[in-house]
Amino acid sequence: MRSIQKSVTKGQGGKLEQARATGARYILLRAAGYPLKSLFQEYPVVSDPKLFELYAREQWYGEAVRPGCYLFDRRLYPDFAFKVIRVYPCRSVVGSETTIRVEQKEEPKKVEYNVLFEDVVGQQMAKRKVRIVEKFLQEPERFGAWAPRNILFYGVSGTGKTMIARALATEAKVPMLPVKATSLIGEFVGEGARQIHSLFDRAEQMAPCIVFIDELDAIALDRRYQDLRGDVSEIVNSLLTEMDGIQRRKGVCTIAATNQIEVIDSSIRSRFEEEIEFKLPNLDERLALLEKNAATLPQKLEDVNLKEIARITEGFSGRDLMEKVLKAALHHAIMDDGSITQKLLEETITAASKGGREPPRVMFT
Ligand SMILES: Nc1ncnc2c1ncn2[C@@H]1O[C@H](COP(=O)(O)OP(=O)(O)OP(=O)(O)O)[C@@H](O)[C@H]1O
Ligand SMILES: [Mg+2]
Repeated sequence: MRSIQKSVTKGQGGKLEQARATGARYILLRAAGYPLKSLFQEYPVVSDPKLFELYAREQWYGEAVRPGCYLFDRRLYPDFAFKVIRVYPCRSVVGSETTIRVEQKEEPKKVEYNVLFEDVVGQQMAKRKVRIVEKFLQEPERFGAWAPRNILFYGVSGTGKTMIARALATEAKVPMLPVKATSLIGEFVGEGARQIHSLFDRAEQMAPCIVFIDELDAIALDRRYQDLRGDVSEIVNSLLTEMDGIQRRKGVCTIAATNQIEVIDSSIRSRFEEEIEFKLPNLDERLALLEKNAATLPQKLEDVNLKEIARITEGFSGRDLMEKVLKAALHHAIMDDGSITQKLLEETITAASKGGREPPRVMFT
């Protein structure tokens, strides 16, 4: 990072305290508005963050910044103020390499999916548990201090963990905040922890509410792996604070999902009151999955014995059956201008098991 030598005095950021000051690596701004307001004024919206960054760096280059001070726009929206929320390093100046972000106002919203519980084949334990969560959120007084709080879904990829959470979001009468754990990892030190706290702040405002953290392994890595990713331990700590501080976060229930439970930090794992395993579908479930999904194909199956297909796809997940069997066969049929036959399906299965995931065991006898 280069040092900046400039004697800038303008702006609330104040004078440069030193002739040579360190260029900030990161600044987070919050739109604060005008010192004076007319009834018709609206806040400017950052439409392109990268472009805004160039614009901001140029006009505030050399400006000393610290948390709490203000930077005033001098060009497009003269005197519009931005409050400096975070600066890293704490007292530094805007430099040519400073990353400048403006907080986005996110309105808590209930995400809508169109998946229902009845669409999820099998996974009875998980369905039962999410029904309990749903009940608690509707009638918290019946549970008192014995409310369901933190639940972990784990198991093989493609077995319906995300799907069941979506069904819960569709069917529950309460809002759900679904987040991908990777989206909680910030680019900068402290950002991940801040994102986690603000997620739970939002959940609390919306309570009763469900927080669904998908792909938890991305942020809750076992300490042995944390060296690989610098800021993970700080994220783990803030997650622990939130999971423990559940009394404070009344009416918030956290569900997390992972397909790599073995890499989850043990202190995080111990905070879950229940771990629900998602297993690969058995014969009957595979048949149900094939029947349900085949019915939605744009092309009819020709003399296909789905029972046989279910029998030879042991080790396939629900996702495999959809993507690697039915979808792949449909695409072949379309390209060859043919139909989806038993032979085509069996060939597709053989191909999927050769190049596919471990361990689909195909049993032709
Ligand atoms: N039990 C199931 N019932 C019905 N469909 C399923 C089931 N399991 C998987 N599928 C199908 O496979 C797709 C992928 O499933 P989903 O995304 O829920 O898997 P996941 O367990 O979250 O996997 P990952 O661990 O990789 O995130 C679903 O959208 C659905 O179409
Ligand atoms: Mg998933």
